[in-house]
Amino acid sequence: MRPVFSSLGSNYTAADSWYSLAGLFLSRFFPTLVTQQYSQIKTYFDATYEGETFFFYKGRDAIECALRASEVSSNDAVITQAFACYAVEEAIHRSGAEVVYADIAEKTSNLSLETIKAAQKQSSKPVKAVIVQYSLGCSLDTEAIAQWCKHNDIILIEDLAQGLGAKTFSGNEAGMVGDITIFSFGRDKMLDSVTGGACCLRTQSQREITKTAKWYATLEKPAVSMALTIQHLYPLVTICIRGSFRWGIGPVTVGKVLAFLAKKIGLLPTPLHAETSSASLFPLSFTLLLAHQIDGLEASLAHRRKIAQLYNQAFGNSAATFNQSVLEEGSYLRYPILVSNPTLIASKLAKRHIYVSDRWYRAAVDCSTLQCSSSYERGSAHRAERLAQRVLNLPTHRYITVEGAEQIVAAVQAAHS
Ligand SMILES: Cc1ncc(COP(=O)(O)O)c(C=O)c1O
Repeated sequence: MRPVFSSLGSNYTAADSWYSLAGLFLSRFFPTLVTQQYSQIKTYFDATYEGETFFFYKGRDAIECALRASEVSSNDAVITQAFACYAVEEAIHRSGAEVVYADIAEKTSNLSLETIKAAQKQSSKPVKAVIVQYSLGCSLDTEAIAQWCKHNDIILIEDLAQGLGAKTFSGNEAGMVGDITIFSFGRDKMLDSVTGGACCLRTQSQREITKTAKWYATLEKPAVSMALTIQHLYPLVTICIRGSFRWGIGPVTVGKVLAFLAKKIGLLPTPLHAETSSASLFPLSFTLLLAHQIDGLEASLAHRRKIAQLYNQAFGNSAATFNQSVLEEGSYLRYPILVSNPTLIASKLAKRHIYVSDRWYRAAVDCSTLQCSSSYERGSAHRAERLAQRVLNLPTHRYITVEGAEQIVAAVQAAHS
């Protein structure tokens, strides 16, 4: 079997790697060409999500934008979910607001109205905004949450970093229900241009949009040219590593040596790492790659759905899995299954060249390999902690063929027995 990875650039083909490198060249020597394409992307987001879209270096910058547009301050609290990565908290801290973690609902990876209400009761400050995620691409009852938010004068931010293409319980498109929709175009996301984020203001007044636009006009591009070049190389480097992962003798292979060296010289930083600590503009050099990813979005969603059906047949409707409805209405960025010892199962799968140890998430608030100190209080979100101990995500990306998915199912079942 060809090695299978849940991440390591598995969204990229040779064409993506070409667009990534060409973007670097074109943005320097033919900037108008790139600017034109950027305008088309903005038009696409404005029209699709029916609002005014601002583009950023990272998804967390987009959350910062959403909180600024909501006029969140240090007198306020923002509710977000446990079972998340630290980047969301990082963005809330930038606004000065208190982070209030709500637990996820039973048999899902997302918030529910009940868990949000419970978190609101715990908050020492008035809640100004709620951020809902469609974690792992799973669906949620956004309409019920939106209605409650509206009633309580709370801004609802839909975070589509993982949920692009999902539907809500009522069958609406994710991102079309709340006041503000944010996106991440970071590594392993549905639209993956290595880095990037966007914030679409949907229900804000013209005064609020103008205020946000004024702030946006003061931002700079990330002034880290070496780090940016490294990110442009990421698709190519990962293609080389994945392609040569089995070339070698015994456990020593070209791909493993390449991965080791690439990590050593900083070519494979954790996606949670950001060189910037405040909002920065989207680097136009990634425009080509982002446009190419948007072109492939429908096909990618259809492919993920097809692969997920196979996982569903094997693991769905069993007591160990998520609610079927949260999966079926989702976008299947990854297919979650619950196992008693995910680390052990992942290591058994690695022996069969299936590498799924990059789990979302291994803790209620996951800091990846970074040192970060989260304000999450241990024990405050039991379901999130329990899910983090048991969840394993199966890949659905373009390199998982029907045959490959069947092999993954068989390998998981064998690892369990
Ligand atoms: C749900 C969610 N929101 C926001 C982010 C932040 O995205 P970025 O890494 O582009 O800042 C992430 C990152 O993975 C995420 O999973």
